[in-house]
Amino acid sequence: MNTGGRLEGRVALVTGAARGLGYEIAKRLAADGAAVFLGGRDSEALHGACESIDGIARPLPFDITDAAATAAAFATLEEGGLDILVNNVGERDRRSLEDITRADMARLLDANLVAPFDLARRAGPLMRARGYGRIINITSIAAEIARGDAAYTASKGGLAALTRALAAELGRDGITVNSVAPGYFATEANAAMVADKAIAEHLARRTSLGRWGEPHEIAGAVAFLASPDASYITGQSIAVDGGYLAHF
Ligand SMILES: NC(=O)c1ccc[n+]([C@@H]2O[C@H](COP(=O)([O-])OP(=O)(O)OC[C@H]3O[C@@H](n4cnc5c(N)ncnc54)[C@H](OP(=O)(O)O)[C@@H]3O)[C@@H](O)[C@H]2O)c1
Repeated sequence: MNTGGRLEGRVALVTGAARGLGYEIAKRLAADGAAVFLGGRDSEALHGACESIDGIARPLPFDITDAAATAAAFATLEEGGLDILVNNVGERDRRSLEDITRADMARLLDANLVAPFDLARRAGPLMRARGYGRIINITSIAAEIARGDAAYTASKGGLAALTRALAAELGRDGITVNSVAPGYFATEANAAMVADKAIAEHLARRTSLGRWGEPHEIAGAVAFLASPDASYITGQSIAVDGGYLAHF
């Protein structure tokens, strides 16, 4: 969808953009006119994703948990500036509480919370220099409600709190910081769950819209928050969940 190039001249980084929701977000920001860097660890997958995007899309392979690789990626970004950061990577460990060790928890928090903090910290000065800044953290409905999954849920709750803290700290620089909280999306990573009839029945009962989200349906909220239209919105969370959080 092209919305008249409202992000023309803007530079964006979307982490974890080779597939899934990150890919859809990158595709939409490019359609809106931004030059988009696609982050991820698999260079080949990133090249393929960039080629399939209509607009300006470039691969930026780096592991967000690797501090040196992150610094090198930002050295590239410093050359052309950065206006929009989408912290999309979110790792998950579905094992039970007893099976997840302290070290596992630390690794997950590193990817889902410490790395987004580091990326935002590095993005701030680049955005201040441009006089425009949008940081969008992809959390989850798990930031608000829980059904176990302690490590992931805690990381997403932390990311929601980080969003508010960064909004307060960066607002005077003209940088807004918001979250988008996905519900259940039919991404490749969720293929087994999508095939599970019990989950389809749960979503039919439990969401207002009665269905899984299609991956592209995440992108509109992110593109809106990245745009000038959202200039006075900061520290907020938009749930894109078919009504999961609202439905009783
Ligand atoms: N899908 C859903 O239903 C759903 C629901 C709620 C919340 N969310 C959240 O939405 C976000 C996207 O979810 P998704 O389902 O689209 O994820 P996904 O399909 O698992 O994709 C994650 C992407 O992140 C990259 N990645 C993973 N670890 C990385 C690292 N350390 N450094 C750099 N890149 C890394 C992966 O690429 P490589 O492996 O090639 O690096 C991959 O492209 C996550 O934050 C997730 O928690 C999703």
